Amino acid sequence: MENIKIDMNKEAEYNPVAVKEIAYLEKSCFPEDCWSLEAVRSSLKRADIIYDLEYSEGKAIGYFLAAASFDQCELYRIAVLREYRGQGKGKILMERFLQILPEGTEKIYLEVRESNRTAIRLYEKFGFKKLAERKNYYGHENGFIYVLTK
Ligand SMILES: CC(C)(COP(=O)(O)OP(=O)(O)OC[C@H]1O[C@@H](n2cnc3c(N)ncnc32)[C@H](O)[C@@H]1OP(=O)(O)O)[C@@H](O)C(=O)NCCC(=O)NCCS
Repeated sequence: MENIKIDMNKEAEYNPVAVKEIAYLEKSCFPEDCWSLEAVRSSLKRADIIYDLEYSEGKAIGYFLAAASFDQCELYRIAVLREYRGQGKGKILMERFLQILPEGTEKIYLEVRESNRTAIRLYEKFGFKKLAERKNYYGHENGFIYVLTK
């Protein structure tokens, strides 16, 4: 839980280790469209970004990254290293994410590839409902927008 950052004083609490860990996880979990080290760095400096990491024996093995403002939040990423999947880590991260949402958050949005059945099952397990479909949002693949109303 120590990596959670939701205050406005981001520059002072900026965590360069978390930047490297998340950039590594990005590369491993999203090889086709990963955020660069620089993109991760600048996002972690933003006041509206919420993130946390999950560790196993000191190694970062999963994370989530979201942006929260006013009564809305958008979950950008939630991922677990392949070799640690199917062991409940995704659920742990999602529970933690939902616990640390800023007070007053009413809606949480996310986008997911139509083919990503594992992620969709995880989201639906936590009460997310399909709101809309975006044709060819991911190149030749449709995207679904999901929402969770608190
Ligand atoms: C989505 C992801 C984070 C799930 O992480 P995980 O640690 O494997 O998930 P868990 O073991 O906690 O399982 C959570 C739920 O996901 C679903 N799930 C997990 N593995 C699954 C599989 N192989 N097939 C179908 N559903 C699966 C189940 O509903 C499961 O709950 P249950 O075991 O109670 O039925 C992980 O698969 C991942 O990192 N995927 C690549 C990155 C990604 O696509 N992220 C989402 C878009 S940002």
